[in-house]
Amino acid sequence: MAPGSLQRFTSLYQLLDPEILANPYPLYHALRERAPVHWDPYLHAWVVTGYENALTVLLHFSADRTPSPQALEEYGLSQLSPIAAVMTKQLLFMDPPGHTRLRTLAAQAFSVSRVERLAGQIQTVLDDLLDNLAGRETIDIISDLAEPLPAIVTAALLGVDMADHPKLKTWSASFAEVLGNFQHNPDRALRVLNSLEEMTAYFRDAIRNHGGRDGLIRDLASARVNGEQLTEDEVVANIIVTMVGGQETTTNLIGNGLLTLMRNPHQMTALRADPGMLPTAVEELLRYEPPSQHTARIAPADCSLGGQSLRKGQAVIAVMAAANRDPARFPDPDGLDLRRQDNRHLSFGWGAHFCFGAHLARLEARLALRAILSRYSEMSLAERPLQWRENLGLRGLVSLPATVA
Ligand code: HEM
Repeated sequence: MAPGSLQRFTSLYQLLDPEILANPYPLYHALRERAPVHWDPYLHAWVVTGYENALTVLLHFSADRTPSPQALEEYGLSQLSPIAAVMTKQLLFMDPPGHTRLRTLAAQAFSVSRVERLAGQIQTVLDDLLDNLAGRETIDIISDLAEPLPAIVTAALLGVDMADHPKLKTWSASFAEVLGNFQHNPDRALRVLNSLEEMTAYFRDAIRNHGGRDGLIRDLASARVNGEQLTEDEVVANIIVTMVGGQETTTNLIGNGLLTLMRNPHQMTALRADPGMLPTAVEELLRYEPPSQHTARIAPADCSLGGQSLRKGQAVIAVMAAANRDPARFPDPDGLDLRRQDNRHLSFGWGAHFCFGAHLARLEARLALRAILSRYSEMSLAERPLQWRENLGLRGLVSLPATVA
């Protein structure tokens, strides 16, 4: 491709531009209109923005995408090997039969009843967080509510000391740097390595010394299916992915959700008046501003997708946030409709890797929105411009100051 045409080339890589990151949806539309499946020479990957094509990728392509130690050495990134070693044991990056084995064992520990037992605790945490804000006219929705809530709930879910929740938050924020980002940053890599060492030691200790404490760590370490059990390394790796998955995305759902409501005050008023709308409202907020915008896969064989010829082993990025606004699937895709009925968005992924914590995320978001909207009869944006986190995949705000009454 000639350099001139490269400059005019529209690329997912443009998310690095803060203005585009602030509102990536016109870029996604432009990419989809050009071709719902296209080769991106900057990212060296196929980028998939159409709903049907993204569904095919999530259902049929390989999730085994962690670079091997040899590949990392070739790229000059061998210092990242310890991170890759943990990721290869996480269910998010595995194909069957390894994925099926892990997911079956993990499902025994992370049951619907375990999540439902957390509802009372989530409500208490919310009430305490809101009580602490009493008398304030301005709050930061991110640091005052959307970050501490999932961190405290994650501590309760895992069965570790509740007082350790700031540690869980720091580790999760640091590990999230390697998820969802295209760009490699050596300083951040060092931070991730240090925190990986700390959290691995912490969770090993929790397995060995607190094995009797009610929680996901104990249940994952003792889960058995057909005589099979997880190794300690597998428990640690999957506690890490659950801890990160449980915090960063839920923070973004509450933050992006309340931002969207403040930008659509009539719909916020309607939701406040009719909490029965909460289940469809949470789904629509997930579709409209997905906390996790895209994920990656590998083409499992030479194949055709959206009229393009893919070669076995090529990288593929499924942009769920673009698929969620595909006009071929959703009527008025850029419109916010908190009562939308046919809403099979892809924000939790689809198929074998469908989000393991979706039940908990939905519960936390519904309870949080209900508590916040009933506590404040007025809520509006206190500051512009907003600062979005630099992570291109995990879409969320650095802070969200709001005036409340
Ligand atoms: C709004 C909140 C959440 C969103 C938007 C979200 C999004 C996602 C997405 C898109 C995937 C699939 C990724 C892929 O296919 O490559 C996924 C998988 C996963 N999520 Fe979530 N997630 C959320 C909350 C949670 C929570 C609360 C937990 C746990 C406490 C969790 C744990 C996981 C795990 C363990 C996987 C891997 C499942 C597998 O590979 O089989 N997530 N999530």
